[in-house]
Amino acid sequence: MDGSGRDGAGAGAQEEPRSGRLVHRKTVLRAALAATAAVPVALIGGPALARTFAAGGPAPGLTPSCDDGDHPTPEQIEGPYFKPNSPQRTSLLEPGLPGTRLTVTGYVFGRACLPLSGVLLDFWQADTNGAYDNTGFRLRGHQFTDSRGSFALTTIVPGLYPGRTRHLHVKVQAPHRSVLTTQLYFPNEPRNNTDTIFDSRLLMTVRDGGGGREAAFDFVLDVPQDPGPGPGPSSPENTWTPGTAYRTGDWVTYAARAYVCLQPHTSQPGWEPPAVPALWQPA
Ligand SMILES: [Fe+2]
Repeated sequence: MDGSGRDGAGAGAQEEPRSGRLVHRKTVLRAALAATAAVPVALIGGPALARTFAAGGPAPGLTPSCDDGDHPTPEQIEGPYFKPNSPQRTSLLEPGLPGTRLTVTGYVFGRACLPLSGVLLDFWQADTNGAYDNTGFRLRGHQFTDSRGSFALTTIVPGLYPGRTRHLHVKVQAPHRSVLTTQLYFPNEPRNNTDTIFDSRLLMTVRDGGGGREAAFDFVLDVPQDPGPGPGPSSPENTWTPGTAYRTGDWVTYAARAYVCLQPHTSQPGWEPPAVPALWQPA
């Protein structure tokens, strides 16, 4: 908690612009994701901003926001069960592994609210009975954020063990940066109120779906970033150009207006952003 009024029911207020430039970046990204939701083929496996989830359910409380770039995701104790050298994998599911299926998706941002690619995320957790595998690597695995700064973990809902509320452990490290060790929590857990380690800023947004639970959480790392010129007519390097391979979420300027790409495509004459609303949305 930071006393800035961005917690609790302030989820909507979290999205109010403070810095037009930074928020514009975030708005563009969210707009791209929202647009992606209208394109089912592009939605498969796609991540979601935590606050995008929150729009359909309860406010995420103290979920770290990426609005002014000065409140990184809080650290938490590692606990006694971390093991190095986990396998690289995005799914921790194994044949015969009992438990309720859980997906966790989100982004990793730096201080300027720009996504970070190549960030290591090393997850470990208890099984559905609350036990950690300390001899092998069951329910342990690491992965890296993709070029859009997103990650996706497939696992099971961790069980409870004495003295703790339900949680996931994770280490997050941007290339050549220090490690953030923290934990993620589930809303509406009775033990959240009695667990002395619990931190509501680390609550995921969680909903039913995918045959189990779907969770979202965005990390903000203490990594300085240059927010750059931002979208707009003052960014000539982002001027829409034929023959360019654009990805979902890319933004360009065309005729002094900013647009965000809705679907991956290679541009060509006649597909200028104002002419193809299926591909470009005004930012
Ligand atoms: Fe634990």
